[in-house]
Amino acid sequence: MYNFMLNLHSYLRWVVVIIGIIAVVMAWAGVFSRARWTPQQVNLGRLITIVFDTQALVGVLLYAWLSPITTSAFRDMASAMKDAGVRFYVAEHSLVMIIAAVLVHIGVLRARKKDSPLQAAIFYTLAIVGVLALTPWGRPLLPGS
Ligand code: HEM
Repeated sequence: MYNFMLNLHSYLRWVVVIIGIIAVVMAWAGVFSRARWTPQQVNLGRLITIVFDTQALVGVLLYAWLSPITTSAFRDMASAMKDAGVRFYVAEHSLVMIIAAVLVHIGVLRARKKDSPLQAAIFYTLAIVGVLALTPWGRPLLPGS
C-alpha cells in the first residue's frame, strides 16, 4: 500500500506541475488579452482544483499513516525537527503544498466572483511557485528510475 501511494504521489507530481503551468499561462494570457473568465477557464479551474486536491489527499495519507519518514518522526518530534531531511516532509513540504492547494481554490473562487482571470493568474502563480520550490527534486523523477 505504501509503495503504491508513494508511486502515485510521484506520478501525480507531474500532472500537478503540467496542468499547473498550463493554467498559469492560460490565466495570464486571459489577463493580457483583457478576456473575461471564459467557460474554458472555468473548466481548467475545475481540473486544476481536482488535480491539486487529489495529490494533497494522497500526501495526507502518506503523511498521517503510510510514510515511515513521518510516522517515525511523530514518535519523537523534537529530534525530527532537528533533522533537516525529516523536517522537510514533516513540516515544510506538507505545509506549503496544502497552502498551494488552498491558493488554487481561492484563485478559482475569486476569478468566478470578479469574472476576471487576474485573480486566478495571481493565485495559481503563487501556488505553482510553492509547488516547484518545495517538490523534492532530488528524489527519483519517476518511480523506479
Ligand atoms: C500538492 C502538491 C504535492 C506535490 C507536487 C508533492 C510531491 C511529492 C514528491 C515528488 C514526493 C517524492 C515521491 C518519491 O520519492 O517517489 C513527495 C513525498 C512526500 N509527500 Fe508530497 N507532494 C505534494 C503534496 C503533499 C501534501 C499535501 C502532503 C502532506 C500533507 C505530502 C506529503 C508527502 C510525504 C509525507 C512524502 C514522503 C513520503 C515518503 O518518502 O515516505 N505531499 N511529495
